[in-house]
Amino acid sequence: MAPVDSLPSGAVTPASERLSRPLDSIDIPHKRVTKICCIGAGYVGGPTCAVIAYKCPHITVTIVDLNQARIDAWNSDELPIYEPGLDEVVKAVRGKNLFFSTDVDTAIKEADLIFVSVNTPTKKSGVGKGFAADLGYVESATRHIAKVAVSDKIVVEKSTVPCRTAQSMRKILDSNGKPGARFDILSNPEFLAEGTAIRDLFAPDRVLIGSLDTANGRAAAASLADVYGNWVPRKQVITMNLWSSELSKLAANALLAQRISSINALSAICEATGADVDEVSYAVGLDSRIGPKFLKASVGFGGSCFQKDILNLVYLSESLHLPDVAEYWRQVVEMNESQKRRFTQHIISSLFNTLTGKRLAVLGFAFKKDTGDTRESAAITLIKYFRQEQAKIAIYDPKVEESQIWYDLAEPGVVDDVTALKKQVTITSSAYEAAEGADAVVICTEWDEFRDTKLDYEKIYATMNKPAFIFDGRLILNQKKLEKIGFKVECIGRSRLEESFE
Ligand code: UDX
Ligand code: UDX
Repeated sequence: MAPVDSLPSGAVTPASERLSRPLDSIDIPHKRVTKICCIGAGYVGGPTCAVIAYKCPHITVTIVDLNQARIDAWNSDELPIYEPGLDEVVKAVRGKNLFFSTDVDTAIKEADLIFVSVNTPTKKSGVGKGFAADLGYVESATRHIAKVAVSDKIVVEKSTVPCRTAQSMRKILDSNGKPGARFDILSNPEFLAEGTAIRDLFAPDRVLIGSLDTANGRAAAASLADVYGNWVPRKQVITMNLWSSELSKLAANALLAQRISSINALSAICEATGADVDEVSYAVGLDSRIGPKFLKASVGFGGSCFQKDILNLVYLSESLHLPDVAEYWRQVVEMNESQKRRFTQHIISSLFNTLTGKRLAVLGFAFKKDTGDTRESAAITLIKYFRQEQAKIAIYDPKVEESQIWYDLAEPGVVDDVTALKKQVTITSSAYEAAEGADAVVICTEWDEFRDTKLDYEKIYATMNKPAFIFDGRLILNQKKLEKIGFKVECIGRSRLEESFE
């Protein structure tokens, strides 16, 4: 992306006029960071801080976590998360200036700057249940910092949090910190997407730093800006007030998810009319004001962020007595749920109105390709529906661990009886095995290896029950080619209506 200031005039007002705190104005005397601690060795903390260590050989980075097994995995040859390029980055710097540890206290004590990258799941009980973010982990990490730190620290909120969380963190630190230890709080939301995390971290569109507009706040922001300055062009590091920064993260995710729900809503119209959603999305994406990205119709968005952050925004809007705003954003999540129900209904009606006893080969269990992460994956919801219809389900995913699949499907509220679950569900080690004897193949994740240029669909066809159906929930297949083999192909956002008019 072009540096913010060099964008064509009219597209964006220059940063100096939009930002309350252009970087030049915060470039005041400040501390150089030499030791960083990151609390939380998850999908965000792990890759982000590994890349910082890789790009800043003069900074020692220690990533800590309460979970010993996770730290052991980070220290082994089998990293706990799959992310293209991550292995190379970690292996290049681990043991040099990158360390993984459960010794949280030492890492906090030694650090100049601490990233808080713990998880912030949606609350499962109490006030705001089902919507608000559970900030219990952020609070306990903050209290821990206050308890242990004996010198000044810059504390950076990396986790996605509701607006004004930084203020709560500051209150906890100020009222519990040791005399002589000063804390400056920054918000520095992470925009990486899983599957492309390393690429996103190496070349971010922008780095956002929120701080208080005080001399100390601006100096802390400058210290963090210096860290990123080791590889990110200065003009792409933007600084603003804390609350703008916190809200920008929620806003970015909400807007991205909103595009997917919008194209998915249009996919329903396409199916009913004979329009093709891929053509529609291509046509509208050519409008430079709209742009082509995030317009791929699908079986529904998943991942740990979109739903959680939108629900968070819904809760925030309701707390601020803005019911219409809350309703607007709630609909983005509702549309996503509706897409999964609609896709299932389409499968049932195509398979002659019953799934009872039929075998469905579910290809893909991760929430998107190139990750082993299954959080909020559409596949989980679809399989729940298939089970309710008494189908037999065979699942194949190239990266998701078998134990994770059982865990997700047996999750309370999804399925409680594991024995019954195992009678209905099998996990296979290849797409071919999953499809053997199946009545339908259902593509849930857009893994490249499921494309018709990679998988031998003739071989698959030969082993399936006839008529053999394919339901493409990701629009990755060449429908005509597969129909020539003999498949009945049903795609999101496409119908046979147009042909029937000819
Ligand atoms: C991140 C963000 O932090 C979250 O706010 C965002 O919305 C999604 O991405 P993520 O890295 O994906 O979360 O979470 P996860 O992979 O669960 O990692 C969090 C880690 O923090 C876990 O390994 C957990 O063990 C650790 N943790 C949690 C601590 O070390 N201390 C705690 O007090 C709580
Ligand atoms: C998202 C944001 O992109 C990232 O900036 C933020 O830091 C975390 O949340 P992530 O959830 O890892 O990242 O992946 P993303 O690529 O955004 O995909 C989210 C979901 O939307 C996936 O299920 C994906 O398959 C789906 N999607 C994406 C579509 O259905 N259609 C699209 O056009 C794009």
